[in-house]
Amino acid sequence: MNVVLNSTSQWQQEDREHHLHPFTDIAQLNAKGVRVITKADGVYLWDSEGEKIIDGMSGLWCVNIGYGRKELSEVAARQMDELAYYNTFFQTTTMPATSLATLLSEVTPDGLNHVFYGNSGSESNDTVVRLAWRYWAAKGQPNKTVFIARQNAYHGSTLAGSSLGGMGYMHKQGPLPLPGFEHIEQPHWYFNGADMTSDEYGIKAAGKLEEKILELGADNVAAFIGEPIQGAGGVIVPPDSYWPEIQRICRKYDILLVSDEVICGFGRTGEWFGCQSFGFEPDMMTMAKGMSSGYIPISGVMVHDRLVDVLKDSGDFNHGYTYSGHPVAAAVAQANISILRDEGLVERVKTDIGPYMQERLKAFADHPLVGQVRGRGLIAALELVKDKETHQPFDKVGEVGMICRNHCFENNIIMRATGDSMLLAPPLVITKAEIDELLDKALMCLDLTAKDIGMM
Ligand SMILES: Cc1ncc(COP(=O)(O)O)c(C=O)c1O
Repeated sequence: MNVVLNSTSQWQQEDREHHLHPFTDIAQLNAKGVRVITKADGVYLWDSEGEKIIDGMSGLWCVNIGYGRKELSEVAARQMDELAYYNTFFQTTTMPATSLATLLSEVTPDGLNHVFYGNSGSESNDTVVRLAWRYWAAKGQPNKTVFIARQNAYHGSTLAGSSLGGMGYMHKQGPLPLPGFEHIEQPHWYFNGADMTSDEYGIKAAGKLEEKILELGADNVAAFIGEPIQGAGGVIVPPDSYWPEIQRICRKYDILLVSDEVICGFGRTGEWFGCQSFGFEPDMMTMAKGMSSGYIPISGVMVHDRLVDVLKDSGDFNHGYTYSGHPVAAAVAQANISILRDEGLVERVKTDIGPYMQERLKAFADHPLVGQVRGRGLIAALELVKDKETHQPFDKVGEVGMICRNHCFENNIIMRATGDSMLLAPPLVITKAEIDELLDKALMCLDLTAKDIGMM
């Protein structure tokens, strides 16, 4: 039956009847009714009630160049007319898949010169696991299979992605993680090491990797994977000492080092990639989200020359996706990366708009609810705590964050709550006036939250 839906309640009803949402309590959403987003431009969204919403999260950490860039829709239409699809399996390629690979080798760090394409961050992290297994087998060390990651890491929702991830609430919903996926402490200085200097704690937290390698035996460990800044885990910014020490340990024990750049990549931290902000050189790098600014699904794994040298003489790699290197997605990603580069958006995050947002956020540390402000470039978190002196969290973690998030929702600002951390990652094109609007609204929502729980 073809029914024309023209009211929010009709859309909500149809959504209730037929749509299962990710990471959502179905009954709760059905009772409340879903918000229908209808259009977007720059850093703003509009819903079906005509409300204008400022998007402090770039969608889901992905719309780096902002909404509504016609260049990308034009490129997609042109590519669909010319060649809507062809695969990269049959000893074939397409021009967009190849020229994007070349562009990626230019914008990524030295030594990362080959890409294996996928359609999502999760898929590309699965690819990382299979590539690492393949690499060690080809080197005559097939027992090196175990991956070490961090608690509260997010690496996706596929079986390998959720096993790499360290989210307890995901692991609880299945026999997860799968065998061969191990987790160490997240480098959360504010909660785990505030009795030390941040750099002392960074070394201590990295030391957990060495302990884990020794426990498992280096001969059994394939790789360590981490997000330069843990995004979904609460924008956990590691101490400066952390990543260089992780790299030293990986090299010492001959363990591959993988940077999950799905959030940090493509300018978020003020460099092209988060590993460049934190001073380490990964063997593989997962990319998605900002690779196309979310305009179309595409992802990739950048693989270092030293791995490619081994893989290229090891026969077939029996892995791939129908849409690996999809020509339309590749053309859109290429146009997106060209905009990031030609408009100097990454440099702008480093020297102008990133420092502006971080400087303005510093004042939030005086708010009665805020225990810590942390961030880099255009990504930040406000940690809401019960006691600022002792860093004591609220009794039921997540409750206050949810109150704040609900105020944000009602006041047409998008901030994400992870536990009691309120997160921000606006599009890289945001202006200073828009940062002011975003942070003024964020402050108002913090005030409303503090009043609700009697802390103001
Ligand atoms: C760091 C990181 N890795 C992987 C993923 C999974 O990406 P996707 O949702 O595209 O599968 C995400 C998604 O948020 C992420 O933040």
